[in-house]
Amino acid sequence: MLDKIEEVGSNKFTFYQLLGGTEKIRDLVETFYDVMDSDPKAAGIRAYHAKDLTEAREKLFMFLTGWTGGPQLYIERYGHPFLRKRHMRFSIGESERDQWMYCMISAMHTLKLDEKIMQKLAEQLYGVADFMRNKSEQS
Ligand code: HEM
Repeated sequence: MLDKIEEVGSNKFTFYQLLGGTEKIRDLVETFYDVMDSDPKAAGIRAYHAKDLTEAREKLFMFLTGWTGGPQLYIERYGHPFLRKRHMRFSIGESERDQWMYCMISAMHTLKLDEKIMQKLAEQLYGVADFMRNKSEQS
């Protein structure tokens, strides 16, 4: 599969396939939330979450499985994600977006994802995280 990385952007292979399926997505989400739960750099967004991260871990796992091209676990269970709307109750600006990406990129490095997959996946996720911003800021 690794020789197909060049084709990540070509829609021939999904991130789900390139990452290696459900268990790899699970590892990514678990590591992502472990970083958020322990790294002071993510304390701002950690504080938005419940003390117990079990539900957040499960929901992000289900969502990302479908989002990467695997089974639509989140949609089957909860329906349309309305992701931006669901995040409106949290104040999200550039800092929060960057904290989220920091956790995700740290998790990718910890799991030693292939560099090219990591870069493409980070680019796509950045788009989603940036779309989640709901606070106007001076630039
Ligand atoms: C940009 C910064 C972001 C912040 C600060 C943030 C924060 C949060 C918080 C606090 C929750 C509630 C968790 C709970 O139930 O305790 C949540 C839920 C969720 N987030 Fe994010 N998030 C961000 C970006 C993203 C991105 C980029 C994705 C997807 C790629 C995502 C996917 C989800 C999903 C699927 C849920 C569960 C929604 C539900 O069914 O309630 N989030 N997020």
